[in-house]
Amino acid sequence: MSTSDLFSSEPAPAERAAELREQLNHHAHLYYTLDAPEIPDAEYDRLFRELQALEAANPELLTPDSPTQRVGGRVLDAFTPVRHAVPMLSINTETDTEPSGARQFDTRVRRALGLAEADPPVAYVAELKFDGLAMSLRYENRVLVQAATRGDGEVGEDVTNNIRTIGQIPLRLPSDAPPVLEVRGEIYMRRDDFDALNEKQRAKIAAGAKGEKTFVNPRNAAAGAVRQLDSGIAAQRPLSFFAYGLGEITPPEQGGPAFDTHYALLMQLKAWGFPVAEQTAVATGADELVAFHQRIGASRDQLPYDIDGVVYKVNSLALQRRLGFVTREPRWAVAHKYPAQEQLTTVLAIDVQVGRTGKLTPVAKLAPVFVGNVTVTNATLHNEDEARRKDVRVGDTVIVRRAGDVIPEVVAVLPEKRPEGAEVFTMPRQCPVCGSDAVREDGEVDYRCTGGLFCGAQRKEAILHFAHRRAVEVEGLGDKLVEQLVDSGVVKTLPDLYRLGFTALASLDRMADKSAQNIVAALEKSKQTTLPRFLFGLGIRHVGEATAKDLARHFGQIDRIMDATVEQLLEVNDVGPVVAQSIRTFFDQPHNREVVEQLRACGVTWEEGEPAAQAPRPLAGKTFVLTGTFPTLSRDAAKDLLEAAGAKVAGSVSKKTDYVVAGAEAGSKLEKAQSLGVAVIDEAAMLALLQA
Ligand code: IVH
Repeated sequence: MSTSDLFSSEPAPAERAAELREQLNHHAHLYYTLDAPEIPDAEYDRLFRELQALEAANPELLTPDSPTQRVGGRVLDAFTPVRHAVPMLSINTETDTEPSGARQFDTRVRRALGLAEADPPVAYVAELKFDGLAMSLRYENRVLVQAATRGDGEVGEDVTNNIRTIGQIPLRLPSDAPPVLEVRGEIYMRRDDFDALNEKQRAKIAAGAKGEKTFVNPRNAAAGAVRQLDSGIAAQRPLSFFAYGLGEITPPEQGGPAFDTHYALLMQLKAWGFPVAEQTAVATGADELVAFHQRIGASRDQLPYDIDGVVYKVNSLALQRRLGFVTREPRWAVAHKYPAQEQLTTVLAIDVQVGRTGKLTPVAKLAPVFVGNVTVTNATLHNEDEARRKDVRVGDTVIVRRAGDVIPEVVAVLPEKRPEGAEVFTMPRQCPVCGSDAVREDGEVDYRCTGGLFCGAQRKEAILHFAHRRAVEVEGLGDKLVEQLVDSGVVKTLPDLYRLGFTALASLDRMADKSAQNIVAALEKSKQTTLPRFLFGLGIRHVGEATAKDLARHFGQIDRIMDATVEQLLEVNDVGPVVAQSIRTFFDQPHNREVVEQLRACGVTWEEGEPAAQAPRPLAGKTFVLTGTFPTLSRDAAKDLLEAAGAKVAGSVSKKTDYVVAGAEAGSKLEKAQSLGVAVIDEAAMLALLQA
């Protein structure tokens, strides 16, 4: 050993090669055999390329069992091996994700064909490179007899039973299909199917199911489903398929079809019932390849499934035969990649963000990393359970995924890279924006800030809700204006609305004097309101219009409601423990009480009454449905009157309906009432009932 070796921090090539082989074997096992990778593909590729480079520079290090000498996956013992009639080849990958990657391929093809610059351009078929797993479907006498994975390219696994469960794969072919046909293509999972599957898995885990897990990405979910030993389970995993080529086929001399081009063969596969991606196109010359790569790259996020690149194939089958193969890769095809959708990075911090509706979301702040074509610095951890389940901690090395138009996600942590002393994440019990209590109700996954009115994050939503037509109603105070008022800092809390003068409003961008006057008038008008409207307007979680009315009727006065205990609240019609607790929590926040006081001080008033135990409720327990147009009352007014008398107003007619109040042009609800024998009355009869 030389002294430089002793002092260098880099391991000797032999040592590094051994280390890389061990790591690659470990990760290949996780990936191919267990369908549970721990590192992103991009990272695996980096390690693989490092080993390849080491072996190239030091040929004496190359061993026959090196992972670089293996073509594909390993065969899982549980499935019957299948020897492919025609080997399933791999494809040369162009990792230069820039347009130059396409030009280089075209140059290589032209050179291999001996074409001069002046010769015409080569025609290619440009396809998508689906991110799933390769499958060979064998049809004999037009019946699907075998489906096999790629395996090592020579021998794959028989997964026929699982593949038969995929609706998109024909089990039988039309009569013009040849006696022997092997269709090659990709099994994949759509992103929406993947999300739904993981949603289901999470629910199972939450319900305590053992041995269930969520999947890292659609490709792993698809691979897991294909290699499920229980085809009943495989059948529940939604898989899809795209055809992109052929294996064995009855030769023309024996009556099989003859194709001149790859495109013609794809169109024939389509005619036989196989899905072929609609983007598949003939592209002539390098310029059209580049255009395809760019066009698909720009719309990649909008595709319903993951792709990791595009594939170019020489269209003429005669030219394909002339070009042949280098080692096990065709010279006539190339995969032109896009930037990876998964990468490794580290977690710098875990922040908690508060949404417009008060929902708290833990977000991992990341060391900037280029994923799926953008630089990502934030990734959602969804909620407390998810953050715990993945056990993401500050300092961790994580896999980040950004696929489709979605928010980047932390898919997994690399436990072996965790720094010592990294602490388990816990959700804060106070809102990070306003300091109000954050609570998680029974059966809910999210924590919510209880400071609705007061919380900066919820300001816009709270103001819009307050000003809603069915709440305190401030005419003309819509989305755009609220946005302007809050963003400019003029309005921070609800009472600030009533402190706005004409001058402040008129000085807003694009605000005409006339409109400002209208808003001032609407605010003035809104001051005279009712207790139910005011209560509803406060935006207390679970307090909708009907509950607000019940509360107002029961307690008569806001101070009684603010001071009511949970037990007292439970005495109110239709108020259960969740609602009672939510009201209590709301008024336990001093700043919420402060807002109520200030609104009163600004002149917002309503009539208060006596607690309603005494008030008559002639229609208690009766259910009404309203339909059509009434002669004097609006639908809302009729509803208010009925509810004040203790009735329930439902949206649809059922056997439980006591009365249908029908006005002019009553529709299907009237017919339904007649068919069920429910009493139908008009507005006058309803008013009479209210008097009773
Ligand atoms: S052609 C001889 N076309 O990429 C060429 N492969 O190594 C054989 N893939 O595992 C492959 N989309 O499963 C071809 N449009 C496409 C493809 C595609 C995805 C996968 C294939 C294989 C890998 C190529």
